[in-house]
This record gives sequence, C-alpha cells and structure tokens, in this order.
Amino acid sequence: MKLWSGRFKKSTNKLVEEFTSSLLFDHRLYKHDIKGSIAHVKMLNKCKIISPDEAAKIEEGLSEIYGEIEAGKFVFDVADEDIHMAIERALIEKIGPVGGKLHTARSRNDQVSLDIRLYLKDESMLIMELILNLQRELVSLAKNNMNTIIPGYTHLQRAQPILLPHHFMAYVFMLKRDFERLKDCYLRTDVMTLGAGALAGTSFPIDREYVAKKLGFSHVSENSIDSVSDRDFIVEFLSAASIIMVHLSRFCEELIIWSSSEFNFIKLDDAFTTGSSIMPQKKNPDVAELIRGKSGRVFGHLVGLLATLKGLPMAYNRDLQEDKEGLFDAIDTLKLSLETFTGMLKSMKIEKDKMKKAAEGEFANATDVADYLTTKGIPFREAHEITGKMVASCMDKSCYFGDMSLADFKKFSPLFDEDILDVIEVENSVNKKTSFGGTSTKSVKKQIEIAEMILKKEKNWLSRD
Ligand code: ARG
Repeated sequence: MKLWSGRFKKSTNKLVEEFTSSLLFDHRLYKHDIKGSIAHVKMLNKCKIISPDEAAKIEEGLSEIYGEIEAGKFVFDVADEDIHMAIERALIEKIGPVGGKLHTARSRNDQVSLDIRLYLKDESMLIMELILNLQRELVSLAKNNMNTIIPGYTHLQRAQPILLPHHFMAYVFMLKRDFERLKDCYLRTDVMTLGAGALAGTSFPIDREYVAKKLGFSHVSENSIDSVSDRDFIVEFLSAASIIMVHLSRFCEELIIWSSSEFNFIKLDDAFTTGSSIMPQKKNPDVAELIRGKSGRVFGHLVGLLATLKGLPMAYNRDLQEDKEGLFDAIDTLKLSLETFTGMLKSMKIEKDKMKKAAEGEFANATDVADYLTTKGIPFREAHEITGKMVASCMDKSCYFGDMSLADFKKFSPLFDEDILDVIEVENSVNKKTSFGGTSTKSVKKQIEIAEMILKKEKNWLSRD
C-alpha cells in the first residue's frame, strides 16, 4: 500500500509505477536523506511537536535503516516511488505507526531539495579537491621542465617559441577560475530549504535555524515557494562542470595532437592508452579522446535542465524529478575525468628535444626579428614588411633564419648588427618576453609563485573548520 493512498480507490497501474519512480537513481541520496531526517526529528522533539521517546525511536530506526542500506541488505522496491518513501516505509515497518510522525511538518518537496543540497555540497568539495590535485600536478610539471621550449601556436600554425611551463600554467589559471566558480556555486547550494513544506511553509512551531545548524548550513532559505521550486543551484553547478569539461577537453585535444607521430612531443604511458583490435602497432590516446567525448554529455545535462525548468509554473512540479540523473551523471563524469586526466599527465613522457627542434624550425622567431628592427627605430609595420620579405626569400631557398649569416641579414636592412644572430635563438626569444604574464623564465617563475599562493589559500578554504 502506498503511503499516500488514502484518497485513491484504485491501485497504481504497474507501468505508471515504473514510469513515475525515481528510486532506481535517487537511492544514492540515502545517506543525506537519513541525515536530514534525523536533524528534522531532533528539531520536532526540541520544539515539542513529538515526544522525546518518539524521537528516540524514530532516530534509532533511521540509524538501523542506514546500516542496512550500507550493508546492502535493504530491499529497494520501485513501488516505493522514491528514496524518501522507501525509507519512511521501512521505518514504519520497523518501529510501527510512530514512524509515521517523521513526516510531520515536512513534505517531499522540501525534503528532496534539502537532500540534493546536502549531497551536492559534499560532492562539490570532492571535485574542488580533485581540481587542486590537477593544478598541483601541472605546477610540478612546470617546475620540472623550466628549460623546455615548444612552439606556441595560433591557428595551429607555429607562432612564437614559448616555455612549455608557460603552456602548463595557462591551464593552472583556467582551473583556478573553475575552482572559484564551484566555490561560488557552493555558497548558493549552502542554503537550508527544509521547513518550506509542500510550498506554503507549515503551521507547526518549527525551528529552521536549528535544523540548519545541525546540518552545517550557513543560511536558511527566505521563501518557501522559491525553496521547493527552483533548481538554479544545480544549473549553476552544471554550468561550472561544463566549463571544467571544456578546459579538460581542449587540453586532451592538445595531448592527442602532441602524441601523434606528426608531432611526437609527448609519449602517453602504456597504462593510460589502449591498443587496437586489428592494427597491432597502434597505441591510442583513448583516455584523452573519451574525456573530450564525455564533455558533450555534461553540456547536454546543463541544457537539459534549463529546458526542464523553463516552462514550469510555481511551485513544485514533478518535472523537477528530472533534475537528478543529469546531475549524478555530470558529477560521476567530471570526477572520473579529473582523476584519469591527472594520472595521464603524471605518467606522460615529455620529448624535450623534439619540442625544441620544432620551436627552432620554420619561422617562430620572425616576430623577434621584426621587434629587433623596431627597436632600431623603424616603425613596426615597416619592420613587419621587411621580415616578411626575408621569410619569403628563405622559403624560396628552403632555409630558415638560423641558416643566414650577418651578411645575408644586411641584404634586407643595414640596421642588422652582429647581435641579430643571438636574437633569433629560441632561448633568447623566450627570455625577452619579460612582460608580466609573459613566457620568459622570470615571468613564468612569477606565475608559479602566484599559483602556489592561490593553491595554498584554496586548500585552506577546503579544510576550514
Ligand atoms: N521524487 C521526487 C523528486 O525527485 C520527490 C518529490 C515528490 N513530490 C511529490 N509531491 N510528488 O522530485
């Protein structure tokens, strides 16, 4: 019999039972549901809405159910509709009709909002920890490769030589903003919504502040309709998750390119690659490809939830039950992606010499030549034109600037002196970029210093209280 069957003359159609049930996926909220119920029961007792004896019985029953679920002994039945009803039914079976007092001054509408908030707070902390781990790995890669130079690209064409650590640090700062976005959305998830009832609040003399304190929430929601009807905190999370996946996906794309025979900049570890069932020689960057591929489904969950919400009148509508599968999948995907990505980076081999050779090849130092002429007093546009002509002439002769003598340089401009031969060295090119945020060793060391300070600060935030 359903816990809400009083006004019904017929039992639920089997197909409808299956169609409406969320138990198959929302059972993962059990821990937070029970935690929320125990806080609620303590409050009902404190506010003298139920007796101390009743509260003790309910609390004990809930703890036993928690143990049974943890031990895998709890039988989940779709007929129970959702995790909230499954636990309440089990409680009544266990301790008798007094179990029915648990739901006093509460509705599943405020209960489910509370559960997701409790759950998402915990998961967000875990994800933020994983971001810090990845950032730490990138900083250590940067520190260990301070004299590795690669060609920096624009339009996937060699542009200017850069330090490999500069490239790694770019992702550290992207991840810094990802962390901040999660932290910001955590603040809005950290709101206690229980006590909103179905939508109107309750006539029982409840103490919402007490429940918030017991559950570790910083705020209590101000409006009961808003409390049960909005899922904007999940939209925010999915948006932050999507942006993280975009960043990981771009990095994966680079690792895939870098590990190809055409580039040969890195070798991914055997443990983080897979083989082909037909081509014996193949070693495929599947982890990177899958993270790139999985980013799409996380974006999908964001758009899916926005679509679910857009036409809903106030307050709770059953459509809102559709918030969970996407959220759970996004969390699982994001956590696994962050972890495997960090492992893949940690184990990859950097082909320093191949990177440097690529940075020296072609004309990645052309801007340095133009800058050189500019510092000698001619307008940059003219310097650009002269250098362009030099590139064209070299291409005709199949040579690079490095193959040119001073006399060759002077044919293009009398302003060239002996020191031009140093200017075109990639190390010098890199180390001249001393602007704040630039690619010189000095500027990159500054970035590392700043990043380490930020990592320390964020770590402290995660381990506060
Ligand atoms: N399983 C529901 C959900 O996830 C719980 C709330 C149901 N409330 C209701 N009145 N049917 O949204």
